[in-house]
Amino acid sequence: MSKTSIFLTGATGYIGGSVLTHLLNHPNVSSFEITAFVRDPEKAKLLEEFGLKTVVGSNSDLDKLEEATSKSDVVISTADADDVPAIKAILRGLKKRHDETGVAPILIHTVSFLVLTDDAHGHYAYETIYSDLDIPLIESLAATQPHRDVDLLIVEAGEQGYARTHIILPSTIYGLAQGPLFDKGISNKHSIQVPGLIKASWDRKQGGMVREGKNLWPNVHIEELADLYIILFDAALSNPKTANGREGYYFGESDEYLFYDLAKTVAQVLVELGRGSSEEPTPFSREEIDKYFAGVSGSAYLGSNSRARAERSRSLGWRPVKRTTDLLLSVKPEVEELARSGRINSF
Ligand SMILES: NC(=O)c1ccc[n+]([C@@H]2O[C@H](COP(=O)([O-])OP(=O)(O)OC[C@H]3O[C@@H](n4cnc5c(N)ncnc54)[C@H](OP(=O)(O)O)[C@@H]3O)[C@@H](O)[C@H]2O)c1
Repeated sequence: MSKTSIFLTGATGYIGGSVLTHLLNHPNVSSFEITAFVRDPEKAKLLEEFGLKTVVGSNSDLDKLEEATSKSDVVISTADADDVPAIKAILRGLKKRHDETGVAPILIHTVSFLVLTDDAHGHYAYETIYSDLDIPLIESLAATQPHRDVDLLIVEAGEQGYARTHIILPSTIYGLAQGPLFDKGISNKHSIQVPGLIKASWDRKQGGMVREGKNLWPNVHIEELADLYIILFDAALSNPKTANGREGYYFGESDEYLFYDLAKTVAQVLVELGRGSSEEPTPFSREEIDKYFAGVSGSAYLGSNSRARAERSRSLGWRPVKRTTDLLLSVKPEVEELARSGRINSF
């Protein structure tokens, strides 16, 4: 029997490295042929030691992306949620695959809960709670929301029927990623949002938030998020009726946190480690937001609400058990690891 060909982008990243780790530990791994799309040729060589094939290239190498996806039964895309030309190249490749084989290949693409955000700027919590089962509510999102342009292209491809498309939306992912890919420095072990807040707070020697920090966000632990990718991958492979296309939204959420509580925990950890003098977080100034968060959507993310329930994901059998207390407990080891590696001073 021929192997299932899997093409993965973002393998050197936090999410992609974790998904790859779980694929390599999958009971059916001997029936997979995994190809990673990697920018750094040195990392490509290291990945090959794990039995992977690699294609060296970046998202701007559109021909390479199209060619590689046209040979794949499954594409898992975790590199840059917002790259429209790249997703178009992936979809062209999948269409070619379908035209040649008559079978619709599987796409699992990663975006984020930024698509659900508002403009609260830390002032209030909003009431709307999205569900990945409530497609009309998702479809009511403005086309101008972050990631929406990419989502709509993917859904359209799924509705045309040449690919079975699925979109995973992780929330605030936390926890240091674990496993040999991370130990060997191939993949990035740090998330984006919590480390971003920690680095800013470390630099100003004080926990920070946007205004009062009254905004709410969901959270998910990296290991449990990687479980969701594998559960969806298994479901899509074994059952073509697994929700896809217009219905193919899967939220990665296991609990919800108040931004103030995260900021306060960071402030407390800084005091505990002798870096901060007050356990009470203070609002970031406009200048601080521009300085520290220009690369992660600034206050648009930091002060926003994004509320959601992962009901479709749970309907697949996904059972995340981590709670917001685990998010808060992850802050100290994250600070210690960032300080140990020196990354705490990089923005
Ligand atoms: N972490 C979170 O909390 C979170 C939550 C929701 C959604 N997301 C989204 O999920 C995606 C992955 O996040 P992450 O946390 O895994 O980020 P990450 O650790 O920075 O990893 C990004 C991965 O994508 C690759 N990549 C980036 N730009 C590329 C390009 N132009 N061409 C080829 N490869 C490229 C990187 O390769 P290099 O190693 O060569 O840089 C790396 O492998 C991002 O779009 C992010 O916005 C993240």
